[in-house]
Amino acid sequence: MQYLEMRAADDMHLHLRQGAQLVAYARDAARSFARGLVMPNTLPPLASPESVRAYGRQIEEAAPGFTPLLTFKILPHMDAGLVRSLKEAGAVAGKLYPEGVTTHAEDGVRDVEGLFPVFEAMAEEGLVLCIHAESPGAPVLEREAAFHETFLRIHHAVPSLRIVFEHVSDARTVALIRTLPPDKVAGTITLHHLLFTLDDLLGGRLNPHLFCKPVVKTSADRDALREAAFSGDPHFFFGSDSAPHPREKKEREGAAGCYTAPYALEALASLFEAHGVLGVLEGFVSERGARFYGLLLNEERVVLRKEEWVVPAEYHGVVPACAGMRLGWRVVEKGR
Ligand code: NCD
Ligand code: ZN
Repeated sequence: MQYLEMRAADDMHLHLRQGAQLVAYARDAARSFARGLVMPNTLPPLASPESVRAYGRQIEEAAPGFTPLLTFKILPHMDAGLVRSLKEAGAVAGKLYPEGVTTHAEDGVRDVEGLFPVFEAMAEEGLVLCIHAESPGAPVLEREAAFHETFLRIHHAVPSLRIVFEHVSDARTVALIRTLPPDKVAGTITLHHLLFTLDDLLGGRLNPHLFCKPVVKTSADRDALREAAFSGDPHFFFGSDSAPHPREKKEREGAAGCYTAPYALEALASLFEAHGVLGVLEGFVSERGARFYGLLLNEERVVLRKEEWVVPAEYHGVVPACAGMRLGWRVVEKGR
């Protein structure tokens, strides 16, 4: 038997939802990950100190041994005082969604400049700004690139603020991020953007379980993301954007979001191995995200065993993006 042991991993962009579903989703993530940056686009959104605190407690109860890294949703009417109380409640980041850009973003932001005082306060408090960086009005394949100008405006207006360009999907964004200071600007990369292209989504029969925002793009974009993830560049680290929706929501209503948390680490190990870069996996999933956020690295370890298995067709009513995919590694232990 061959084993791979490394520092336990962090998922720096994760949706765990709320209510009854939260328990199952949190346990799925906790099987492989030590910590997860949990997104605030629940209904209602996590935008008050009380709701952020309560959400953290619910996750800790649901999945002992899993540490939630808490976020709040930046709403148009926020002010600096609220930012400070959210920091006191334990948040490490605030998430900016342009209005209407994705699932549950109807209450998102239209006037980004109006929020500059909030961004200043976040910088002073040492909070990270996470951005769903797409311009909702632009053509779908141009949405991310169309946001670059706004992204740079925020970065230049508050240069001390740490900003994460979430779920990078476009080769032009990889190039942009590389030009910016790595202690201030980073990008998360998902499993599905490393694996899939538009051809997988809609080249044969439409596969709604690969549909997410931002949409997966061309093989050139995917290859640029692979290069970024495999290179060890400190600008880039793992954030799954695992976003479960029940099967009917995906198949009948076209909801955006890919479910990957239950097997993401194993799929990453398989992908990195196939490209001869298994040695850089630990940096991508266990070090660079924590360093950017200024967190201590996990002390605990995770052990994977070389073993072939197939991603199941369903996890509690949710079809995983990689259903039916053959993987080469299996998590056998997390902890110690
Ligand atoms: C996410 C969700 O379902 O909450 N959907 C998605 O397509 N990625 C929201 C998001 O991160 O955009
Ligand atoms: Zn997301």
